[in-house]
Amino acid sequence: MQLMDNYQRRFQYLRLSITEQCNFQCQYCLPQGYQPNKDHQFLSLSEINNIVGTFTELGVHKIRLTGGEPTLRRDFTDILSIISSYPSIKELAITTNGSRLLKNISYWQQAGLNAVNISIDSFSPHLFKLITGQDKLKEIVQCVEKSLEVGIKKVKINTVLMKNMNDNLKDYLAWIKYRPVDLRFIELMETGKNNDVFNRYHLAGNLIETQLLAQGWQLQSKVALSGPAKVYSHSDYQGKIGLIMPYSKDFCKSCNRLRVSSLGKLHYCLFGDAAVDLRDLLVRADQKEQLKARIFASLMSKPEKHFLHDHKVGILPNLSYIGG
Ligand code: 5AD
Ligand code: SF4
Repeated sequence: MQLMDNYQRRFQYLRLSITEQCNFQCQYCLPQGYQPNKDHQFLSLSEINNIVGTFTELGVHKIRLTGGEPTLRRDFTDILSIISSYPSIKELAITTNGSRLLKNISYWQQAGLNAVNISIDSFSPHLFKLITGQDKLKEIVQCVEKSLEVGIKKVKINTVLMKNMNDNLKDYLAWIKYRPVDLRFIELMETGKNNDVFNRYHLAGNLIETQLLAQGWQLQSKVALSGPAKVYSHSDYQGKIGLIMPYSKDFCKSCNRLRVSSLGKLHYCLFGDAAVDLRDLLVRADQKEQLKARIFASLMSKPEKHFLHDHKVGILPNLSYIGG
């Protein structure tokens, strides 16, 4: 059984949020820091196991754990072990701010982690602190190097572009010249609560793209089922540059991912108006067939594209609910 929507898009990639908690205060996401909500019970190990078991039977073979900050969960290594015990999961990835990585990456790797995206919004210590609220650039850069050193196969850096703040391409190019790392510029997206920051700092990724082209960077052809990023390479550089431009035309055409929140809700689109609660079907392993039926039925309502251009940002106040 394969997951396909009404627009012939196939879904073999699940982004699973396992907590809303975060210890950073990124300006565009949680400027006041994480405020706990005692009614929010995040997915248990057994619920995670039931989600993964079901989605693997539906053809999912890549899972990315997100948050908030996923590594803040005390049972994070157990979560990795559970997921990697499914032979059909070929890629087990995390998106992390890196704050827990240095000490733990070897254990995580042993537990099956094979891809990491580390968020670095600037290579200037001052700007990094200004954007994330944490004076940790040096440590987070070490995380990237350590991940490469222990042999993590895919190491990427995520940088959310902010106009007149962190948009000097030179700093990033110097960094990836001798490091085999994919650096992804992500266009700042508008969410329910970041309207001021969005209006002030949103920068279209094609301004960066124009500079790359002028400097001889070349667009790589898309491999089947690769997602919406446009990836550029250059023979003088070991690293690559990816651009994620949700405001560009046709962005949603290559959507290849589904998302489940840490509260067990299936989100078809980051900016959708609704989410489908799966939690009542995560209680026991023998509910799998019912769960599949609900996933299939509701996949038919996955919209063709988002309406961000009309400022229809959907139900999420910020991306810490679902990890981008
Ligand atoms: N726009 C773009 N990217 C965002 N992220 C969080 N909020 C936003 C937003 N509003 C990114 C983070 C991180 C990943 C989890 O999502 O920087 O790289
Ligand atoms: Fe935390 Fe990620 Fe949001 Fe930054 S973007 S506050 S690291 S959840």
